[in-house]
Amino acid sequence: MIKLSYDVKIYRQNLLEVIEDGDTVIELGCHTGGTTRLLPEDCNVIALDNSPEAIDEMEKLDVRFISGDVRRHEVIAEVFKIVQSCDVLAIDLGGGYHPDTVFKVFYIWSSTFKPKHAVIRNRGILEFFNSAEGSGEEIVSDEGYLETYHDSGIPPLIKEFDLWTPNLKR
Ligand SMILES: C[S@@+](CC[C@H](N)C(=O)[O-])C[C@H]1O[C@@H](n2cnc3c(N)ncnc32)[C@H](O)[C@@H]1O
Repeated sequence: MIKLSYDVKIYRQNLLEVIEDGDTVIELGCHTGGTTRLLPEDCNVIALDNSPEAIDEMEKLDVRFISGDVRRHEVIAEVFKIVQSCDVLAIDLGGGYHPDTVFKVFYIWSSTFKPKHAVIRNRGILEFFNSAEGSGEEIVSDEGYLETYHDSGIPPLIKEFDLWTPNLKR
């Protein structure tokens, strides 16, 4: 299942609804752990954020935290060394963050880790979903990733990010 929201309270509620005891959860954009703290203790959580503010706060929690940019290939590769799949993929890069980037992050992370559920917080994607009228063709996924692209795997280079986000370059 893919759950979309904008309001952070609904995002957290959506997440808690799909998580089951013992689940492996990858949380992208954990910031200082406002949502991470709410997750069941027996979950295997890998939380990521590129904000310096996150580092000290996340170290206080009993979860694996990776400080890094989730658009970067080596960050995905680092997580892939730890787990090769997850039950829940949570994405909150900021509710108003560029929907194209958030969708790309969702696409790459979900096609790599094949979550049962993806929970995404982004206003633009929600607006698109609520406003678009489908053609009626039965192209749907019951999983937390797009079945059309489920075999794509981890891309060798995420070239589009370099094209779309100039300030990403080191
Ligand atoms: C609204 S905050 C997340 C709040 C958190 N989910 C919560 O519930 O408290 C958005 C976070 O996304 C992080 N972020 C944005 N773009 C990112 C990127 N490319 N890689 C890693 N983290 C990113 C920001 O640093 C920020 O901490």
